[in-house]
Amino acid sequence: MKVDVAGVEFDSPVLLASGILGSTGESLNRVLREGAGGVVTKSVGTEVRKGHPGPNVFADDSGEYALNAVGLSNPSKEFDDEVEKVEGTTVVSIFGGTAEEFADLASHFEEYADCLELNVSCPHAEGYGTDIGADPDLTRDVTEAVVETVDVPVWVKLTPNVTDIAEIGLSAEEAGADAVVAINTVGAMAIDTQTAYPILGNGEGGMSGSAVKPIAVRSVYELYEALDIPIVGVGGVSSPDDAIEMMLAGASLVEVGTAVKDDIGVFDEISRGIDEYSDEKGWSHDEIVGKTHEVVKEAEE
Ligand SMILES: Cc1cc2nc3c(=O)[nH]c(=O)nc-3n(C[C@H](O)[C@H](O)[C@H](O)COP(=O)(O)O)c2cc1C
Repeated sequence: MKVDVAGVEFDSPVLLASGILGSTGESLNRVLREGAGGVVTKSVGTEVRKGHPGPNVFADDSGEYALNAVGLSNPSKEFDDEVEKVEGTTVVSIFGGTAEEFADLASHFEEYADCLELNVSCPHAEGYGTDIGADPDLTRDVTEAVVETVDVPVWVKLTPNVTDIAEIGLSAEEAGADAVVAINTVGAMAIDTQTAYPILGNGEGGMSGSAVKPIAVRSVYELYEALDIPIVGVGGVSSPDDAIEMMLAGASLVEVGTAVKDDIGVFDEISRGIDEYSDEKGWSHDEIVGKTHEVVKEAEE
């Protein structure tokens, strides 16, 4: 199922989320060969950053969630060597501490990207991410600066760590964003009870995986009610049913992150499952997206 979102065509509605297998051209191409409709790179910034001390990723035994505090480690602009190798629809994720930094990165990566994803939502890097994305004015400034600088579509990736995600989404939309992406990780922490130490090297981190899916679905649902631009859903998707749920809530595309580490074949499985569901129900992609809103309104009438 091909999907066009804000003028960019994706071979399927299932994409790789930022931060997982997104650091080299080869790993991104591998994900494309596994059936992803497009890939989002690891977030890149203006400075080379080493990131937080380890351990920076922790997967709970239950399989329900993972915690990470990678700390936005990245090779900065030299990453263009890797992005250039990607042989499919490419979303380059960028982060900065100011609107100027975002605009500078955006103009550097524009020629390598089919579209840009602005990470204003990482929960564990001071001065970056959520420090911007929890504030509607800063989100507007950053989005405006990038939209004015580049000709490729601009997506804004939102944080769930706010009282009202739709308010931030509206700021992005008003500033000219072509789509919003929801959600980045949920602020979280785990402690080793034997040592009394935090498990992650950074102490606090962000939670991803199945346990965050209901938060992501709610975020997408609320954004769909409030916004006119497309929504990309991400958070806890690991099966066709998870992806369809996200689409029914209002997501035009779905990104998959944590589930990829257990099964890189998940893209093909999810894409096929969406196609089967579409055939079975007789609903096109556009009819599936946001269907729950329609069903709920009909029931209320
Ligand atoms: C190890 C790891 C690294 C991540 N790095 C980034 C990143 O660089 N930029 C970003 O926007 N999101 C990053 N994320 C967040 C994911 O893209 C995604 O929004 C989140 O994990 C929820 O989706 P999931 O449950 O499918 O993993 C990272 C997540 C994980 C687990």
